[in-house]
Amino acid sequence: MASFRRGFFPQDERMRRTEVLSTGYRVPDRVVTNDELAVVMDTSDEWIRQRSGIVERRWVESGEAGSDLGAAAAEMALDRAGLAARDLDCLIVATLSPDHFFPGTGVFLQRKLGIADIPCLDVRNQCSGFLYGLSVADAWIRVGQYERVLLVGAEVHSTGLHKNDEGRDTAVLFGDGAGAVVLGPIENGSGAAPDRGVLSVHIHADGTHAEKLWVEAPASAYDTLISHEHIDRGLTRPAMQGRDVFKHAVARMPEAVHEALAVHELSLDDIDMLIPHQANLRISQAVQRSLGLSDDRVYNNIQRYGNTTAASIPIALHECVEEGRLSEGDLLCLTAFGSGFTWGSALIRW
Ligand code: UT7
Repeated sequence: MASFRRGFFPQDERMRRTEVLSTGYRVPDRVVTNDELAVVMDTSDEWIRQRSGIVERRWVESGEAGSDLGAAAAEMALDRAGLAARDLDCLIVATLSPDHFFPGTGVFLQRKLGIADIPCLDVRNQCSGFLYGLSVADAWIRVGQYERVLLVGAEVHSTGLHKNDEGRDTAVLFGDGAGAVVLGPIENGSGAAPDRGVLSVHIHADGTHAEKLWVEAPASAYDTLISHEHIDRGLTRPAMQGRDVFKHAVARMPEAVHEALAVHELSLDDIDMLIPHQANLRISQAVQRSLGLSDDRVYNNIQRYGNTTAASIPIALHECVEEGRLSEGDLLCLTAFGSGFTWGSALIRW
């Protein structure tokens, strides 16, 4: 019998599981240092490093869109899986910075991959977007709806940041980039689920905090989607109550990790690698401390990329794989927290 628990996919031992077939990434070539930011706004390398751990980030050049970064990351992942784009059954793109207001980035990415007539789903769950996308992809694969799913996190923040004193609290934190995974089923011939692949994904949200990290306009909720007044009042600028976001992030991510472990009767000792969403190195370190994990069991790369929201986990996962930090049989834990608030976790037996 499937053991149904609200909030994650039923753990049916006879059901096939999802595995990560490959990873890919793409970040823009242009490196932007903290010192460069200090030229255009009242900030300093010291403040940024101390508060966030960020040393540099990547920003796109003119004409480079999130779908371009996503397509490049996807091509790398497809190549590593030995697959062609036409082998995909479905495409999911997580982004908070879509190329355009509509249609979603998915269809632009699909077009750039040169494929037609597969469903393209856009996921709008900010820093938790990759985990939300993984939850959907995992469910589709488990039930047999799709065999090969491309899941991409792609963001271009730099064009929306306000690179001046008013925007300095967010402008120094965010970076551009994309990460991709190709997902597929592990066939289950024996009647028992293999002890590999995505064990479960756990996603949460609490909209009472929606305005604590948001971009208020353009807004269809207002009489005019975008007006001079919106711009003059700074409503197009990312607005964040940083301390409150920080406080919730360091509580919700460990909670979500414990939740996932409890479902599988696993303990913190079983985690071989934790990849936290790269929001702020201080947040990741607080999560690590709260879980009592040693440095070699937590992966961080925010120093080089800043916060790339939905792209941060797949970029980090790709680098983790490339650096040989994951071995077969390792228990990988992902966790994220961000705007919405949204948060979650996933356990993957590598
Ligand atoms: O994925 C989720 C996305 N976001 C996050 O996870 C962010 C969570 N929050 C944080 O990471 C931190 O709250 C920040 C890094 C954003 C800020 O660190 P903080 O220690 O909470 O600083 P603060 O917001 O309390 O600001 C301290 C001071 C303020 O000046 P006053 O009022 O004390 O005079 C700010 O105006 O730092 C000032 N400040 C800056 N100074 C230099 C804010 N931004 C900057 C800046 N450079 N870029």
